Amino acid sequence: MRSLIDILDLSITELDELMNTAIDIEQHPERYRSACAGKKLATLFFEPSTRTRLSFEAAMYELGGNVLTMSGESSSTTKGESIADTAKVISCYADIIAIRHPKEGSALVAAKNARIPIINAGDGGHCHPTQTLADLLTIRREKGRFEFLTVGLCGDLKYGRTVHSLIEALSRYEGIRFVLISPKELRLPEYVKTEIIEKNGLSFSEVSSLEDALPELDLLYMTRIQRERFDSLETYERLKDSYILTPEKLTLAREDCCILHPLPRVNEISVAVDDDPRACYFKQVENGKRMRMALILKLLREAEKPEKEKLGEGFLLEGRHCLNPRCISHTEQELPSLFKKTAGGVCRCVWCESAVG
Ligand code: CP
Repeated sequence: MRSLIDILDLSITELDELMNTAIDIEQHPERYRSACAGKKLATLFFEPSTRTRLSFEAAMYELGGNVLTMSGESSSTTKGESIADTAKVISCYADIIAIRHPKEGSALVAAKNARIPIINAGDGGHCHPTQTLADLLTIRREKGRFEFLTVGLCGDLKYGRTVHSLIEALSRYEGIRFVLISPKELRLPEYVKTEIIEKNGLSFSEVSSLEDALPELDLLYMTRIQRERFDSLETYERLKDSYILTPEKLTLAREDCCILHPLPRVNEISVAVDDDPRACYFKQVENGKRMRMALILKLLREAEKPEKEKLGEGFLLEGRHCLNPRCISHTEQELPSLFKKTAGGVCRCVWCESAVG
């Protein structure tokens, strides 16, 4: 079953297709008004949300579908029910699930147990791939490209799941340079630096001064300091106002610098910045709903394909088969030889994950 757990679950081609669909939805909403008639989206939110939850729900209604919604406090998880069982049960009621949960990996557990597509709407401080869909469409519209951009990410890079997913997505494009602006306690996790940025041959610098970084940036992605992820309230209080973007500081930025923020903001962008034409964070919100519409459509259509086609989450390589003699593809009847390309550019068998020459 095709789900969206990590932004790398979608190829660059699929991201382009989703963006094209989102723009078509904006231009021709009437074409989509009954696209999901008879279908139900379940939104399971075990953490607070304004944008993600309501945009998913608005998206499903605008596609002609219905919504079942449940918050953590009202669910039987409060009695000890597992995410795995919850996902199995909701598969009996809905056609697709969007889940947000404070534990990292929770959406993947749901996907392994559900019979319907799962969308990760944020798993702890790990990933937030549908925010990245909103970010990417905004970048495409504002900058017209993804390649050769200098991207500043500022604030809580340690716990900021939107940052991790955006870096994963942008690391697949040529010539991206990341400027990581944070206090030393909130630096980007090592695995994102080594296994994503460096593995893709891209460069990054780590700095603590927003003012020093601003003049070179094509994009500035501001983030909230994630109070809910801190063990110590004292540390949060010390770091919470590390960066505040004001109109005065913005005079240091380029005329075409695009200012993004996944929202909610607390204090990190002054309200006076909102009127600056470079402020694009409310455009991200609009783009988010349409990208979620495009995603729901795609996952529901793929869920309707016959099982044999659904297994095809990879591509065929003319005349090539997996080289691993222990791979199931050599013995299982009618299992196609399918391959996928990893972020590091290695071609792997979809089934056993061994590298292909
Ligand atoms: N950007 C984002 O995830 O916002 P919410 O927490 O309000 O959903």
